[in-house]
Amino acid sequence: MSVNNLKNIQDVISHLKSQGFVYQNSEIYGGVVNTWDYGPLATSMMTQIKNIWINEFIRKEKNYQIDSKIIMNKNVWKASGHIDNFSDFLIENKNNNRRYRADHIVKELFPEINVEKCSFEDLEKIIKTNVKKYDGSETDWGIIKPFNLMFKTKMGAVDSNTSETYLRPETAQGIFINFRNLTRTSRAKLPFGIGQIGKSFRNEITPRDFIFRTREFEQMELEFFCEEKDSEYFYSYWINKCKQLVTLLGIKENNIRIRPHEAEELSHYSKGTSDIEYLFPFGWGELLGIANRGNYDLSQHMKFSGESLEYLKEDGSKIIPSVIEPSIGLDRLLLALLIDAYEVEKLDNDDERVILKLDYKIAPYQLAILPLMKKQSEKAKEIYGKLLDNSNLRIVYDESGSIGKRYRRQDAIGTPYCLTIDFDTLEKGTVTIRNRDTMGQETILIEDIENFLKQRN
Ligand code: GAP
Repeated sequence: MSVNNLKNIQDVISHLKSQGFVYQNSEIYGGVVNTWDYGPLATSMMTQIKNIWINEFIRKEKNYQIDSKIIMNKNVWKASGHIDNFSDFLIENKNNNRRYRADHIVKELFPEINVEKCSFEDLEKIIKTNVKKYDGSETDWGIIKPFNLMFKTKMGAVDSNTSETYLRPETAQGIFINFRNLTRTSRAKLPFGIGQIGKSFRNEITPRDFIFRTREFEQMELEFFCEEKDSEYFYSYWINKCKQLVTLLGIKENNIRIRPHEAEELSHYSKGTSDIEYLFPFGWGELLGIANRGNYDLSQHMKFSGESLEYLKEDGSKIIPSVIEPSIGLDRLLLALLIDAYEVEKLDNDDERVILKLDYKIAPYQLAILPLMKKQSEKAKEIYGKLLDNSNLRIVYDESGSIGKRYRRQDAIGTPYCLTIDFDTLEKGTVTIRNRDTMGQETILIEDIENFLKQRN
């Protein structure tokens, strides 16, 4: 059994709140259901994760990155199938007027049933026959119905139907509708990918599990265009790349698994999908997905716009490329990274220390600078300033409280190294560097700090 089963998600959430990774959104007005803002620590981690994605999925792969809009022409969503198909099944308990996702109820109460294979009639029958009490209330179930997850909004000053549109539920469509622009202006040759990072919005029936399922979230998506004959190869290729990315960021390999979707659960556009799942404390859950979308999206946009989105091959023939899509939810990835890193260690003196064993690459701060006593502050600040100017290290400075307390504070936010400025710094030009995980300490010269960190990471 993985230790993740033993981690209590509430402990992790309390820790992240108390350390300032997350804040309750609109807290001074009573909050918004399951909506969180990110403080400086989580924001720093998100920036590192995005940069690593850009390096691994765009730069090293010679792909292209774009930035399209959240609000697009309404017809984009007609063509993509989202207006007609992007729904979950909702069921209401008329006794307390609460609405639930039918598949979530069945999954929770009957784990032996594969909900992906259930029709909505099956879900309704299972719930009505068996669930007489739910969420602390007797039940009087209404009829099950599809609920579209698109966030409606209105554009412009004229309050008429013509201005009604949607916030994007995925970043992918902004890429498909720019396919022709990109091939024309960048002269891209197949196979190549176009990626983007940005916010997506879904009116989830039951946002839950902290930042696992929220109504506003961020995605890092790549649409990789290739010839159909090569699509199986690139499907496997991007599954592997996603797995490598997740482990590169520091998630333990035995806490992830790859799960290919069965035919019944494929999305309306998909010829094949595999999820990378993570073992959350509440069970295995989808972390990210890789889909073989075939040429569904480009074909649909050709049909609805009347414009050609074909690709001209060197031999003069035209094709509609196939698409492999690795789609990653940044918030969910952040949650998995934080859960994976969270550890509580028992110390000899009956005390305990909470550590976030975050990888050096994504830790909010890589180094803390701590003068042992107030009288070393000046020297400590001088070293701090020089490192800020001459390196791109993420550094924090702390001089308040005992050194032991300051070490604990850094352990709790995942800082891999603490640099202590002591008597010897002034006399011999040395500093003590402490390792978060081993608590081991080494003495090094001030001028060797950057090299030391480079060699160890
Ligand atoms: N373009 C394909 C697509 O959007 P998806 O499986 O619906 O596929 C991709 O979403 C990823 O986005 C998911 O694997 C998950 O990481 C993230 N995601 C989806 N809905 C989310 C939500 N409500 N809250 C947080 N992340 C979400």
